[in-house]
Amino acid sequence: MPEKSIIEQTLLDLGATTPDKVASLFADVRQRFDEQVARHSNDPETWRVFLVQWTGRKSGALTQITDNWLKPASPELKKVVGAELNKLKAHVEASLEEKRKEVEAQAEQSSAARDAIDLSLPGVERALGTRHLIRQTFEELQRIFLSIGFSVVEGPEIETPYYNFEALNIPEYHPARDNMDTFYIEGARQGHLLRTHTSPMQIRTMEKQPPPVRIVVPGKVYRRDNPDATHGYMFHQIEGLAVDTDITFCDFKGTVDYFAREFLGPKTKTRLRPSYFPFTEPSAEVDATCHVCGGSGCRVCKQSGWIELFGAGMVDPAVYGFVKYDAERLSGFAFGMGVDRLAMLKYGVTELPVLFQNDVRFLRQFP
Ligand code: DAH
Repeated sequence: MPEKSIIEQTLLDLGATTPDKVASLFADVRQRFDEQVARHSNDPETWRVFLVQWTGRKSGALTQITDNWLKPASPELKKVVGAELNKLKAHVEASLEEKRKEVEAQAEQSSAARDAIDLSLPGVERALGTRHLIRQTFEELQRIFLSIGFSVVEGPEIETPYYNFEALNIPEYHPARDNMDTFYIEGARQGHLLRTHTSPMQIRTMEKQPPPVRIVVPGKVYRRDNPDATHGYMFHQIEGLAVDTDITFCDFKGTVDYFAREFLGPKTKTRLRPSYFPFTEPSAEVDATCHVCGGSGCRVCKQSGWIELFGAGMVDPAVYGFVKYDAERLSGFAFGMGVDRLAMLKYGVTELPVLFQNDVRFLRQFP
């Protein structure tokens, strides 16, 4: 900013009575202007202030020179002052225009620098999820059965009593049909229920396709159990069914053996205990030698050397009647495994609820 004293005074006040003196005053102003432009840092904020100080309409330096020097000038000097003022204006405007480009270029550069992505910084790493232990166990079970020619089918969780019970040879008076165990549905789908096991898919599959059948059925099932360390209102099963013209009890036992060795280790042995299911005859509980102690007895097998794996048996001929299969010609076996139970056994999980609480401290142990 030029010294106020100069441009606030008239030429008369300054004693500039000749063209030479006028020219030298303008030279002074121009020099000051040049110095200030040269010193300016190109900062956009102070740049705006600087512009106003020189070219502001109301009280910028050029306006003041017009008001204080040009307007009151004597007629003899007016021409010279006008010419000098025009030269100064042209110079100031040209310099400011040049400087403006620098200021803008710098502003652009620094904002680009602010926005620039620094590729050397470590990125934000998003943790990949993992398959849940139940999902992993399903996949392992499916792998084992796929490897011996079974295929995987799925079915509805909302079932009719016919598929869940009747066609599986579970008559009306059977305790499994007690309201205590089954969730019955009210409202629009009244007369339906939440399947209590995956066995209904035996019926649905045989209804749809002629023999032979070799399927496993993974899925959720529901029961009105009071929740505790080993029970919930929902759990997972995988059902198996093999039906053909030449399936014997030997095939059944061989399949069970193969499964147990694949799932628990090559040294595993199995035994069958007599049991009862309405849709198999004979029925059995399949036990395996304890995978922790190998059969000598430990805490996990409660010193017995054996652990209970799942229920199974040869398909009851009565079931074939419901699906119009020829019971004289056909035979087969079936099994139903509790997937949560098998996962807990194999991975040493002692509380069922941790499988469903989704606490990452638990989940991370099964990457
Ligand atoms: N559906 C039975 C249950 O949920 C389990 C079962 C047992 C299924 C024997 C079978 C079987 O297919 O043969 O308790």
